[in-house]
Amino acid sequence: MNLLKWSKRPTRGVSAKQPEINILRGLVARATTPLLPDDYLHLINPLWSARELRGRVVDVVSETSDTATVTIRTGWGFPDSYKPGQYVGIGIQIDGRWHWRSYSLTSIGASEDKVISITVKANPDGFLSTHLVDGLEPGTIIRLQSPRGDFHLPEPVPERILFVTAGSGITPVIAMLRQLRSHGQTPDVVHIHSAPTRGDVIFLDEMESLAGAVDHYQLSLQFTHEVGRFDAARLDEWVPDWRERECWACGPIAMLDDMEAHYENGGLRDRLHIERFTIARTDHGGEGGTVTFSTSGKSAELDGATTLLEAGEDLGIQMPFGCRMGICQTCVVPLAGGFVRDLRTGEERREGERIQTCISSVSGECTLDL
Ligand SMILES: Cc1cc2nc3c(=O)[nH]c(=O)nc-3n(C[C@H](O)[C@H](O)[C@H](O)COP(=O)(O)OP(=O)(O)OC[C@H]3O[C@@H](n4cnc5c(N)ncnc54)[C@H](O)[C@@H]3O)c2cc1C
Ligand code: FES
Repeated sequence: MNLLKWSKRPTRGVSAKQPEINILRGLVARATTPLLPDDYLHLINPLWSARELRGRVVDVVSETSDTATVTIRTGWGFPDSYKPGQYVGIGIQIDGRWHWRSYSLTSIGASEDKVISITVKANPDGFLSTHLVDGLEPGTIIRLQSPRGDFHLPEPVPERILFVTAGSGITPVIAMLRQLRSHGQTPDVVHIHSAPTRGDVIFLDEMESLAGAVDHYQLSLQFTHEVGRFDAARLDEWVPDWRERECWACGPIAMLDDMEAHYENGGLRDRLHIERFTIARTDHGGEGGTVTFSTSGKSAELDGATTLLEAGEDLGIQMPFGCRMGICQTCVVPLAGGFVRDLRTGEERREGERIQTCISSVSGECTLDL
């Protein structure tokens, strides 16, 4: 009985929905040496791994001049269902190093061929997004994390909804719209979406055809090159009943801060659900210094902008993480010694405090029990 339980137990981050499918993996992975079985599985099929979730890039299809949808066939253990609006961790190997980022799923789950999609906007100053949009070859094997996040529609779906999105912030919301349509649900939806120009609107045809086909979805496109940026103070004018609507907003930091302040001032903060793709970093990074990972017996010299999460990963340490943006708390660990600086606020944290490795850098020296 214990052997059965042990062999069914999923490996970390792997769906436990059908534990039976874990038996083979569990036995192969656990019963012999820890390294070899996975290598054998990998030889048979690169998507079979007992240790981690994997996917294979099916195709990369351009949406706008700087955006593409990446379709991925998921391997063993990836959950069959997730909530539209949730995001997934994607790990890509470039020059021998794994780089991880989070992307909202634009697919809505439970496809028979186990295919998911994400839609990525190339950030010209960024490292991975340009590679995903311009350089990712179909067939590439990537690593995945299970879908997660609280940014999704509740059940039952509210009768009146407001979506406020801008740029690539449309991605979790297009998944919600696809979910509503596929379930035949028809809440009254008002959607304000901003983009610099019409040509920059991701999923333009899909949103416009939905708005043309049904009365319960009202789309308002705002082209910021013509009318300026979204201003939450004008909600009264654009959506007179916004106070009665449950709102989901996703877009640039300034837009979300504006929305948050507006709802806060109106005493309606609990009606607003926000997904942030990025954090505002303070100019006052850490001083840099030495980080020691005591359990692994490794250390590194860091500049003040490199996060402890990145440093650990560079050293090959299995670091816990989720959003990598200071949102989900998955990366929280106690600071075993020394000082770190929070890159969002510039605040220093000391030994004994719990810190988020994804938004902390070393300040002088620090030790983590990892
Ligand atoms: C929950 C969630 C969902 C997301 N969903 C999507 C999505 O659906 N589509 C999408 O396109 N993106 C999404 N993102 C954003 C995505 O994860 C990446 O952050 C984005 O693609 C940029 O990655 P990059 O590697 O190109 O940029 P990075 O190399 O990570 O850099 C991003 C920006 O930060 C700046 N930066 C980097 N390092 C530093 C530093 N040390 N100090 C100061 N500034 C620095 C860069 O100049 C750049 O402007 C999501 C993020 C989260 C958290
Ligand atoms: S990984 Fe989500 S808060 Fe650090």
